[in-house]
Amino acid sequence: LKQVTTADIRKKKETGTPITMMTAYDYPSAKLVEEAGVDMILVGDSLGMVVLGYDSTLPVTMEDMIHHTKAVTRAAKRAFVVADLPFLSYHGTLAEAVKNAGRLMQEGLAKAVKMEGGSELAPIITRCVQAGIPVVGHIGLTPQAVHQLGGYKVQGRSLEAAKKMLEEALVIQEAGAFAIVLECVPEEVTAMIASKLEIPVIGIGAGASCDGQVLVFHDLVGYASQLTPKFVKRYAEVGESIRDAVASYVKEVEARSFPAAEHVFHASEDTIKQLYG
Ligand code: KIV
Ligand code: NA
Repeated sequence: LKQVTTADIRKKKETGTPITMMTAYDYPSAKLVEEAGVDMILVGDSLGMVVLGYDSTLPVTMEDMIHHTKAVTRAAKRAFVVADLPFLSYHGTLAEAVKNAGRLMQEGLAKAVKMEGGSELAPIITRCVQAGIPVVGHIGLTPQAVHQLGGYKVQGRSLEAAKKMLEEALVIQEAGAFAIVLECVPEEVTAMIASKLEIPVIGIGAGASCDGQVLVFHDLVGYASQLTPKFVKRYAEVGESIRDAVASYVKEVEARSFPAAEHVFHASEDTIKQLYG
């Protein structure tokens, strides 16, 4: 079994082969995602919304991230697992940031961490890389800053904002990140940034002209996810299958048609005789 490495991911950019990334948050989803053949699994802090039911990613803690990363890495034998650093876990001292990033690897067994933000993260990225922690950057729409951005909106629309985004991406690359996620960015801006960077640009809501794509598992398969922004394609509606299955169970239990004969254990003739006299 050949495990995906940062070198493989870099190589894909060089050869123009699209990189596939998908989120997963637990053992079964990670198992299915890996079996489907993705290169990279992201244990995103989106788990706060799609798995824990919060209305933003802000309440997600280090403990939440470690708990879910452990479950994912038990399933992922081949795919490269990246775990998100949650809100405020990398904004204190450098030592705290490196410690938290290290926990995602040492306890969660992730192979890299992702952090949201621009050039202000350069010292943290460099310190992590020096410690042997591969880093993925994340710019454009950064959901941990939703209250500052004033909502989940497309970023980098103006010429000024697009130029600033390129500058931020270059600083993140220079600091040592091995890849960068661009979220909710006009395709033309993403394409320009991807062409100027040596590291792979993985897009979500950032068009087709970058080095890879990432989507949230629950959005892609329609698993109790109401969220369907323009950039999501729903490839399945597993939520409907699950609801139908459970509704059938409820109906059959109420009608006493489940369990049926084939689901039932029986005592021996002897025991039955004695039990019933
Ligand atoms: O948490 C997440 O799922 C993410 C992706 C949207 C890139 O950060
Ligand atoms: Na995230």
